[in-house]
Amino acid sequence: MRVVVTGGTGFLGKALVARLASAGHETVVLTRDPGRAAPLPAGARAEAWGGGATAWERLVDGAGALVNLAGEPVAQRWTAEAKERIVASRLEAAARLRAAVERATVRPAVLVNASAVGFYGDRGDEELTEESPAGKGFLAETTRRWEEAAESLAPLVPRIVRLRIGVVLGEGGGALPKMLLPFRFGAGGPLGSGRQWVPWVHLDDVSGLALLAVDDPRIRGPLNAVAPNPVRMAELARTLGRVLHRPAFAPAPAFVLKAVLGEMATAVLDSARVVPAKAQALGYGFRHPDLEEALRRILGRPG
Ligand SMILES: NC(=O)c1ccc[n+]([C@@H]2O[C@H](COP(=O)([O-])OP(=O)(O)OC[C@H]3O[C@@H](n4cnc5c(N)ncnc54)[C@H](OP(=O)(O)O)[C@@H]3O)[C@@H](O)[C@H]2O)c1
Repeated sequence: MRVVVTGGTGFLGKALVARLASAGHETVVLTRDPGRAAPLPAGARAEAWGGGATAWERLVDGAGALVNLAGEPVAQRWTAEAKERIVASRLEAAARLRAAVERATVRPAVLVNASAVGFYGDRGDEELTEESPAGKGFLAETTRRWEEAAESLAPLVPRIVRLRIGVVLGEGGGALPKMLLPFRFGAGGPLGSGRQWVPWVHLDDVSGLALLAVDDPRIRGPLNAVAPNPVRMAELARTLGRVLHRPAFAPAPAFVLKAVLGEMATAVLDSARVVPAKAQALGYGFRHPDLEEALRRILGRPG
């Protein structure tokens, strides 16, 4: 079937597009700049979207599935303008897709929309499943609105999955390269108190769960895309140190992080012990359930 992916040029998008194309789906990447999207795997192609272009809308007509990953990066200083871009880019992408689906003669059977574990906010040691309510703060409020925008397609698309993505570890992007930098200088260690839970997930499992959400008609509503074994920040730092053979004793105190990152520091200081309750109930087999194995694989450091 045809699968239309917005944000398919990004860190998660590239991995998912490769999986969709190798599963035999006709994969269309909607991008603001098709020139930058190349090279795509066989079976995938890029199409410009936004700015009044209508060619992409014809590709939505008759598509079996939509995957919406587009959004301004969150990992930047949260100035008023940046916050506006973070929110508006997500609400606009959903609105644009809704308008295209409204005009389609054959509508997609499923929308898989990215969301984030930021939905749960700062929750200490509480175990968080898909049933847990939203938390507080900019990320929680933004993801809540993002999920609402996705659900606004409910009258048009019979199945909507909101993929609440954790802290993605993988090659070529995401949080890991930023975490590695201090370790390379021998100054690695936990960020903040170290007691906060980090809902990490390997990139392969994010694309695996997104693929499952596309294919499995039993899945609807929120789906936590996190590994089954969340760890505290201190354990994450210790494990990274072990894998890299580097010291991991230099904590970065919360006040320093707040001074450097501003309000965005909450993204690394908040505690979210998120578990993949639905994925496990459905029998999804995680490729990388163990943090040390996942890091060794990503960093090419066999134990
Ligand atoms: N990486 C993570 O750890 C993580 C965790 C939780 C949630 N998520 C969410 O999952 C989605 C994909 O994450 P990612 O890490 O793959 O992100 P990414 O690498 O930043 O890619 C996102 C894509 O969105 C498009 N985009 C960027 N800024 C935009 C803007 N201002 N307006 C419209 N489109 C814009 C870009 O596509 P074009 O340039 O081709 O248009 C970009 O390739 C994001 O929405 C992110 O918030 C990611």
